[in-house]
Amino acid sequence: MTTPTIELKPSSSPLSDAEREAILANPGFGRHFTDHMVTIRWTEGRGWHDGQLVPYGPLHLDPATNVLHYAQEIFEGLKAYRRPDGSVASFRPDANARRFQASARRLAMPELPVETFVEACDLLVKQDKAWVPAHGGEASLYLRPFMIATEVGLGVRPANEYLFVVIASPAGPYFPGGVKPVSIWLSENRVRAVPGGVGDAKTGGNYAASLLAQAEAAEKGCDQVAYLDAVEHKWVEELGGMNLYFVYGDKLVTPTLTGSLLAGITRDSLLKLAADLGLKPEEGRVSIDQWQADSADGTLTEVFACGTAAVITPVGTVKSERGEWQQSGGEPGEVTMKLRDALLAVQTGRAEDTHGWMHEL
Ligand code: PLP
Ligand code: COI
Repeated sequence: MTTPTIELKPSSSPLSDAEREAILANPGFGRHFTDHMVTIRWTEGRGWHDGQLVPYGPLHLDPATNVLHYAQEIFEGLKAYRRPDGSVASFRPDANARRFQASARRLAMPELPVETFVEACDLLVKQDKAWVPAHGGEASLYLRPFMIATEVGLGVRPANEYLFVVIASPAGPYFPGGVKPVSIWLSENRVRAVPGGVGDAKTGGNYAASLLAQAEAAEKGCDQVAYLDAVEHKWVEELGGMNLYFVYGDKLVTPTLTGSLLAGITRDSLLKLAADLGLKPEEGRVSIDQWQADSADGTLTEVFACGTAAVITPVGTVKSERGEWQQSGGEPGEVTMKLRDALLAVQTGRAEDTHGWMHEL
């Protein structure tokens, strides 16, 4: 694998300090983008080349560009946080880089070296450091690396040209009004992913496929959809953009990685962090019947969702064709909030990083 150099061509007209500060006062999620982006090209026979840090701007694509027709695309999501001393560190970028390689293999795309992925993210964050929100809250700079097939033509086969891009977007607290439990629609007939498919790859098609179920959930008055396995329609897998944890007192169960759910980096981090806190986390299978029965008899004390964008989100109401019930009285549970605080403390530099997860810039 070639490791390309990335040439710096910074913008001569970035947003003014006042414009940027106005955005940072209320960034929302994924609505505003920083002044720069990194692009790297890959061509068959030549490998990775033409790495550049350039002003943020549109990509020019021929209408017959492969990705626009056959969706050969993958992406990642990770965050950089401002620390108490004003420095900036990103959370486990190497883990995202490795997952990006796994997604690339599944989508028949070239693998970007881990060190190039991390360097591209670092260069962008360093260049646009003023866009990393202040320390003190939950705000961060969300990084969105992605790769698309750029060969022009309508043949259905792996493309011979690709473009890797990293963009960055300031992200406010996911819950501006404080942490509120989300309501879940348990989808018993629409599936997100199938065995042997691409459920464990972070590819745009998985999200396109989830939109209708998400719209149906909204019609039922729910915020998110929980998906079941595609074969037995019985085993709980994950939400459209977050993994799940089931809390039984001090025991935690998160669905096993069967191949049709995404191996979340937050999920993995919580397996370790929960053990540090004296809890007993494990991977296992949870059926929809068990979810309902264990909630009814009170053994299932809390349920939460986790992912980069929302960190940890308590699950409040659960609705399905079989009825409706509440987790922990519809309030954020104690274990959920304890884990949420412990994770955010490491990410924002308030607590010691005993696992070496933070990557300082
Ligand atoms: N599951 C899906 C489908 C996702 O899109 C995400 C978000 O990235 C996650 C789980 C959580 O993964 P991570 O913790 O790496 O953000
Ligand atoms: C993330 O949490 O980073 C995600 O990718 C979820 C969603 C925004 C797609």
